[in-house]
Amino acid sequence: MRLSRLFGGRQDEPQKPEEPEQPDVEAVADDGAGDGEEYDGVPEGDVDADLDQQWRGRAADVIPGGASTGSKRPDALYGEGTTFGPTHYTRASGCHVTTAGGRTLIDCTMALGSVAIGYADDTITRAVLNAAALGNVAGLSHTSEVDIADRLCDIIPCAEQVRFLKSGAEAVSAAVRIARTYTGKNKIVGSGYFGWHDWANEGPGIPAGARADVLRVPFDDIVALERACQQAGSELAAILIEPVVEKLPSKEWLEAARRLCDAQGAVLVFDEMKTGFRLRPGGYQEYGSFEPDLAAFGKAMANGFPIAAVVGRAAVMEAAANTWISSTLAGEATALAAIAGVLEWHEKTEVCDTLWRTGEEMIGAVQRAIAASGAEGVSVEGIAPMWFLKFDTPERESRFLELALDQDVLFKRGAYNYAAIAHEEQTLIDIEHAASSAFVQLVEETQS
Ligand SMILES: Cc1ncc(COP(=O)(O)O)c(C=O)c1O
Repeated sequence: MRLSRLFGGRQDEPQKPEEPEQPDVEAVADDGAGDGEEYDGVPEGDVDADLDQQWRGRAADVIPGGASTGSKRPDALYGEGTTFGPTHYTRASGCHVTTAGGRTLIDCTMALGSVAIGYADDTITRAVLNAAALGNVAGLSHTSEVDIADRLCDIIPCAEQVRFLKSGAEAVSAAVRIARTYTGKNKIVGSGYFGWHDWANEGPGIPAGARADVLRVPFDDIVALERACQQAGSELAAILIEPVVEKLPSKEWLEAARRLCDAQGAVLVFDEMKTGFRLRPGGYQEYGSFEPDLAAFGKAMANGFPIAAVVGRAAVMEAAANTWISSTLAGEATALAAIAGVLEWHEKTEVCDTLWRTGEEMIGAVQRAIAASGAEGVSVEGIAPMWFLKFDTPERESRFLELALDQDVLFKRGAYNYAAIAHEEQTLIDIEHAASSAFVQLVEETQS
């Protein structure tokens, strides 16, 4: 957070142009979908389960794995080799998803945590439509890039400067490159998931050399962290931490990371992709009052629109200008407008408090369902705004997901369910009912 902001901000900020007329969100949605060649879904109220299967088949033919997002592949959604469950949607609104076959489900996954307000939120959709109508990109940068960067600096504790990118993986990769440029060193000690880029993964198609300078350590393990930093020695460029993995980190672990960075002149980086605009607007660093030097944000920051940011202390961020970090559409206006819509939400209400409260209620609902059914081998883990179901076997997990879908609720397999503002009271009752019914049947099947 910049001091100039704390002391009232600059006086010479450029004036915003007048807002254009507000487009009619509903009209755009209705007109647009019906006019073109696009599949518009079955007529409202009709359900055709075969269609859900047909879309799965079509996707498998033309998209390797069936989906461009790893966690939305059928295998990832429901389990290896499973054949049940819808895979495609035509409409999402609030926390409801209408499948290609016309079923409406309550979504507990909230698009991998990229949506914390709700799908097709009016405020955000209007902001995006306005921006699109005024020209999404041009040969110059849009003023909103500066405006939103300024506003993020107000909100995120460590942010004095900002660079925008399109995906979380890009933002974290940018943070790594900035840290390496700033320090003139290469070694990264990392804990967490950082996206699909070469340096952060191993597997087919990834040369070992790409990640040769990256040492992985488990979450919240001080001894492992110290050992890795010792191995990196004076070559340590950064410690990169996903600050919440299933649970909150210990202060001791973070303090050790800070101390180890300071000892080598290295950069402490938080990956706040899941925690930003969720635990608090400023992420874990605001929630836990612990500032890194750099941080990466994305997901809930734009409520499902494609934009991410690397932010941090100006002295470190300046290094971005001494290396090459660039994406053609990094500053496109619609996704920036989506951030503006999210910020409007955070200004008018305590979004994060509601997410914690709603998450607690979701967890309570599922725990009551487990207890009432007597189901064993399953527990609810995580923290309130991002929680998950842990099953003893993948088969039982898949079967539970199938049974919950029968009750029109989509839970996440092997990863977080996310609370959203759109999970309102009746939804929570429906979630408890669906979970109860699914667990009761799971217990009956186990006993028979
Ligand atoms: C902590 C964290 N970092 C990075 C990423 C990668 O983000 P993206 O999938 O937008 O590239 C994710 C995505 O789940 C994430 O959770």
